[in-house]
Amino acid sequence: MFPVDKFQRLRTPFYYYNTDLLRRTLAEVRHNLSSDMHVHYAVKACANPKVLGIIAQAGLGADCVSGGEIQAALHAGFPADKIVYAGVGKSDWEIELGLDAGIFAFNVESEPELEVINQLAIAKGTKARIALRINPNVGAHTHANITTGLTENKFGIDMQDMERLIGMAANMDGIEFIGLHFHIGSQILEMDDFAALSRRINEIQERLEVAGIPAIRNINVGGGLGIDYKQPDHYPVPDFRAYFDTYRKHLLLRPGQQLHFELGRAIAGQCGALISRVLYIKSNPIKNFCIVDAGMTDLVRPALYGAYHQIDNLTAEAPTDFVTYDVVGPICESSDVFIKNYGMPRTNRGDLIAFRSAGAYGEIMASGYNCRPLPVGYITEEL
Ligand code: LLP
Repeated sequence: MFPVDKFQRLRTPFYYYNTDLLRRTLAEVRHNLSSDMHVHYAVKACANPKVLGIIAQAGLGADCVSGGEIQAALHAGFPADKIVYAGVGKSDWEIELGLDAGIFAFNVESEPELEVINQLAIAKGTKARIALRINPNVGAHTHANITTGLTENKFGIDMQDMERLIGMAANMDGIEFIGLHFHIGSQILEMDDFAALSRRINEIQERLEVAGIPAIRNINVGGGLGIDYKQPDHYPVPDFRAYFDTYRKHLLLRPGQQLHFELGRAIAGQCGALISRVLYIKSNPIKNFCIVDAGMTDLVRPALYGAYHQIDNLTAEAPTDFVTYDVVGPICESSDVFIKNYGMPRTNRGDLIAFRSAGAYGEIMASGYNCRPLPVGYITEEL
């Protein structure tokens, strides 16, 4: 499945994106959408320009969290009227960029932000379309670092302030209120969590109706659908049908209401791998270290979240002769460990290995620590 011969010519480490799988994934997303459902790809997951271009071509919108992401999305061909922009700390230049581009919506996360967007829009003689990001206080069964929908998290507006802020927005000359936005977390595999969010949104909609607030045009439920890191070859494409069906079943949309999603990982995750070369095998009485030329600078998820990425030796000579290794990188940090006590075919200097399921939050989270060059990203067509 990997073009290993072609890999041999390239300097490691690098990211490789299998665009056949990406296109299959996108086709599956589109196949399972109803006409009132819209997916905005979460650019934060992977902003490689070639990957972004393919996603834009498939007709998806973009979900951005910075001015840089808005620029990247526009550059890749996402139409401005399909761009949504969230984030607790939007700078003035970023808001102005969004206003100038005419993005679909700012997902507003606080009262002072609403006031600033109003002022900046009035100064430009325009109106900003905004959705209020509500913190639904719904937990998700995922890593604490990637849970966002609880009152203790910094994201969104508290439910008790909702009616008041909707009223404020309605009276602002620079604001057009167009919807509600939610997001409960990432790498969520239990559909019950999305059902719980749906039920909370149903309660909220009833509450707003009782308060006499006119029908809301757009409901944005964020992203969060997880991928199977344990078995990337068995489940290369996430179960989009089950995911969208959960919302179809539990979320009571009002007539004409449009439903928006912000999927990142589920779209880009499985199509990407970090390819690295084995530098040295070093053993002591209790350990075999497999030292590779990729480090936490290239793929930080294991060091940051204790995340698991399957590791395949692409060039092993004896695929059935298993040895246990700690697979580690070259960075001067004890946390620069990809995995401990991992069974792999006997591995030698020069072998190529693939860290699987690294298409999302891989390349984009790379850093230049230790003055290391950033990894390059290649797509299938380029090799
Ligand atoms: N919408 C909002 C408002 C978000 O905050 C996020 C992710 C998404 C959409 C996309 O979520 P997804 O569909 O990809 O789960 N670096 C972490 C993940 C951080 C996710 C942050 N927000 C990781 O490597 O696991």
